[in-house]
Amino acid sequence: MITMEDIIREGHPSLRKAAAEVAMPPSEEDKEILGSLLEYVKNSQDPETAQKYGLRTGIGLAAPQIDVLKRMLAVHVTDLKGNLYSYALFNPKIVSHSVEKAYLTSGEGCLSVDRHVPGYVPRYARITVKGIDIEGNPVKVRLKGMPAIVFQHELDHLNGIMFYDHIDAENPMAPIPDATPVDR
Ligand code: NI
Repeated sequence: MITMEDIIREGHPSLRKAAAEVAMPPSEEDKEILGSLLEYVKNSQDPETAQKYGLRTGIGLAAPQIDVLKRMLAVHVTDLKGNLYSYALFNPKIVSHSVEKAYLTSGEGCLSVDRHVPGYVPRYARITVKGIDIEGNPVKVRLKGMPAIVFQHELDHLNGIMFYDHIDAENPMAPIPDATPVDR
């Protein structure tokens, strides 16, 4: 299982590299890695397991964060209505998105960043994502609000982008045009 010791932190060069497409159908090894990403996020949200293994709570994790430069990510997040969005995908990509933006009023955090970086991170308010699930089946999902934001954060990791790259350095809390604030 993945623990915090496996998660690389900012400053590690792999976090700034673009990850490679995963060959389909997925190998057993790649399935295992993808499964372990989702397992980490779930474990980290279980108070007992998190405490036992010293896991920092997360809602998403991408393969480059465990120094695997392949296009895989996991998201496990509940929206404000209590609906669970749980995905582990190979080769995810945004196929369409809204013009409208959204941002988390509390800013974003990252398991690879051991500090609080304040500021609004502009994201698309709504996205449609295509990818391949752990069994090798194509999936298409439409997301908005918190799950859409988490997905975009994790997708950025596949392209060597950190959330704070999007923050306005001059004025981190500047209103973002055409953006809806999202509360966690
Ligand atoms: Ni992150």
